[in-house]
Amino acid sequence: MPEEATRLAARRELLRFLLQSPLAWAATGLATAVQARPELAVPGNAAEALDVFQIERVARQTLSLPVIHYIVNGADDGKTLQANRDAFDAWAIRVRRLVDVSHIDLGTRLLGEQLPCPVILAPVGNQQSIHAAGELATARAARAAGQLMIASTVSNASVGAIAREAGPLWFQLYASPDQRLMEKLLRDAESAGCRVLVLTVDSNTRGNREGEAWWARVAGGPAAGRQPALPLGNFADYDGPPRVGDVALDWSIIDWLRARTSMKLVLKGIVTREDTALAVERGVDGIIVSNHGGRQEESLRSTLASLPEVVEAAAGRVPVLVDGGFRRGTDIFKALALGASAVCIGRPYLWGLGAYGEEGVDRVLAILREELRRIMQFAGTTALAAINRSYLDKPG
Ligand SMILES: Cc1cc2nc3c(=O)[nH]c(=O)nc-3n(C[C@H](O)[C@H](O)[C@H](O)COP(=O)(O)O)c2cc1C
Repeated sequence: MPEEATRLAARRELLRFLLQSPLAWAATGLATAVQARPELAVPGNAAEALDVFQIERVARQTLSLPVIHYIVNGADDGKTLQANRDAFDAWAIRVRRLVDVSHIDLGTRLLGEQLPCPVILAPVGNQQSIHAAGELATARAARAAGQLMIASTVSNASVGAIAREAGPLWFQLYASPDQRLMEKLLRDAESAGCRVLVLTVDSNTRGNREGEAWWARVAGGPAAGRQPALPLGNFADYDGPPRVGDVALDWSIIDWLRARTSMKLVLKGIVTREDTALAVERGVDGIIVSNHGGRQEESLRSTLASLPEVVEAAAGRVPVLVDGGFRRGTDIFKALALGASAVCIGRPYLWGLGAYGEEGVDRVLAILREELRRIMQFAGTTALAAINRSYLDKPG
C-alpha cells in the first residue's frame, strides 16, 4: 500500500508539473487545450481545489480500486444515480436584478439546531476504509464549520466517539430484526447527545450493486488488494450478531421507536406523496427525500423529481430535506427553491475525505457554501426563506 501511495503521489506531481509547465505541455503535444481546462485540473492541495469535481479527481487517483467501487456504486445499471445528477439540468434559475445583496444569510433553524448553512453531511458507513481517521476527520471538519453531521449505524467509530469530535450530530438508524440491538443503538445515540434520530427506510434489502460484487469476485481477497472488513464501533460492545436491515419493516416501527426514545424522528428515503402523508399522520418530525444516492432500487426517478410532491404533501407541517447528486451551489439553490429546508451530501465529502482527509471535507463544505452564496447574490435572494419556486423555470 505505501508503494501504491508513492506511485500515485508521483503521478499527481507529474500532472501538476505538466499543468504548470508550458514547455512540457508543448512537448506532450497536448498544449493549452488541457492547461486551460479546470475540469481536467488536479489540485495539489485542498486549498487549491476550485470545485468538488477537482477533489473527486484527486480522490480517484489516491484511493484504491475497492474503495472507489464502494463510493461510486449505484444499483443495477446506475441509471438512478445518473438521474439524480441529470435532474438539476431540467431546471433553470430565474435571477432577479437590482437587489442589495451586500448581506447574505445562509443560516437556518432545523429541528432545534441553528445551522450556519443548509448543507448537512449525510450518514455514510465505514469511513475508515476511505481515510484512516474516518468519521472522526469528517466530524472535526463539520464542527469547524458548525455544520450538522449525521452519524451512520455502520460507522467504524462509535457514535459516542464521533460525538466527542463533532458539532451538532444526529444519529441514523438501520432497522434490525433484533430489537435488543436497536434499543442499544438508541441508548448509545441518546448518551452521545443526539437529539434527532434518522431512520433509513429505503434499506429493507440491499441494492444490486454489481460493481461491488464484481470487484469482490475478480479481486478475490485481501491479498489481491481488497481490504479486510473494518470493525464497526457501534457493535463493538454488543454481544449478538450485528444484523442490520429488516425485510419485515413497516409503519409500526414509528410507534415502537416513539415508545423507546425521546429523540425527534426523521424518515430518510421517502420519495412519494403517499408515504409523506402517512409519515406526517404518524407524527414524524421531518423527512429526507432520498434514494440512497442511487444505491438501492433502480427506479430511474431522481430525488429532485420526487421533491415537489413530498413538499406538497408535507404542506409545511414538517421540514423536508433532500439528498442525491448535490455537487454545486446552484444544485442546492434549486432544491431550496422547490421547497427543501436543507440538503444532505454524501459522495462529495467522501471525495474530500479520500483526497485530503479532514482538510478535504472542510474544503468541500467551504466550496459549496461559497457557491450557494454566489448564486444567492446573483438571484437577489439574501436569505434562504426568500428562495422560492419563482426563481426557477422549467425550459421546454
Ligand atoms: C459509500 C456510501 C455509504 C453510505 N452509507 C450509508 C449509511 O450507512 N446509512 C444511510 O442511511 N445512507 C448511507 N448512504 C447514503 C447517503 O446517506 C446519501 O443518501 C447519499 O450518499 C446521497 O447521495 P450523494 O452521494 O449523491 O450525495 C451511503 C452512501 C455512500 C455513497
